[in-house]
Amino acid sequence: MEGIPREYIDAVEHLKSKTGFAPEIGLVLGSGLGGLSELFEVKGKTKYSEIPNFPVSTVKGHPGELVYGEKEGKRIAVLAGRFHYYEGYSMKEITFPIRVLALWGVKKLIITNAAGGVNPRFRPGDIMLIEDHINLLPENPLRGPNIDAFGPRFPSLHDVYSRELRGKAEEAALKAGVSLRRGVYVALQGPDLETPAEYSFVRTIGGDAVGMSTVPEVIVANHMGVKVLGFSIITNLANPYSPRPTTHEEVLEVAGVATEKLMRVIDELLKII
Ligand code: HPA
Repeated sequence: MEGIPREYIDAVEHLKSKTGFAPEIGLVLGSGLGGLSELFEVKGKTKYSEIPNFPVSTVKGHPGELVYGEKEGKRIAVLAGRFHYYEGYSMKEITFPIRVLALWGVKKLIITNAAGGVNPRFRPGDIMLIEDHINLLPENPLRGPNIDAFGPRFPSLHDVYSRELRGKAEEAALKAGVSLRRGVYVALQGPDLETPAEYSFVRTIGGDAVGMSTVPEVIVANHMGVKVLGFSIITNLANPYSPRPTTHEEVLEVAGVATEKLMRVIDELLKII
């Protein structure tokens, strides 16, 4: 762990000694997707507040916890509770758990989120395999002095959502009988949902879905050589002609229902990755 800042080492050492566990796959749960952790044979849970230097959620009822367990012989660590830029967290705080997972041994990361569908063919409840992203957040998590022990100054993002893992996800979806959408995720800071003109803009620049998370974590995972797979649950039609406004309640409800489909895909996926 030479060159790794102490705060990260302390968190990893704590997890290693407290859990005796060594994960190989990480899973980040998006808004309304908590049901996904039912997929595993849970070995244990640790509240974020017990892990040294971990950020702690300020949202009541969502304290955030790290759940670890097994499925299909794979060892998995789940981040149940993520941090968003719009909440006021720094990019360092948002990505701290991802760096800790990577240092703990995670080599593959599955990231999920709830997103608005700007592609007119998408419907609420669809699952989109993220093929690529466009980062419109106002700050980059790699800004500032580079920590060479984590990764290079100018990391390549040419395989940002691993082609190999995407192939496996397609295979898994086929087996699970779930049809996947594919597309580009655009990250905006929020927390307001987009204006009609902004939805048009996101579509014009090549976006299929829009959300407020994921991209910082994905950049940091790539920086550390962790392979990434991303799924967006399309919770609402994010288009300028939408007859009704989108509400956060609707987003959570649709995400909750679609979780079951995504669970079936991840269930199959874990057999082959
Ligand atoms: N915009 C931004 N983020 C979102 C949306 C949306 O329409 N739906 C779910 N997350």
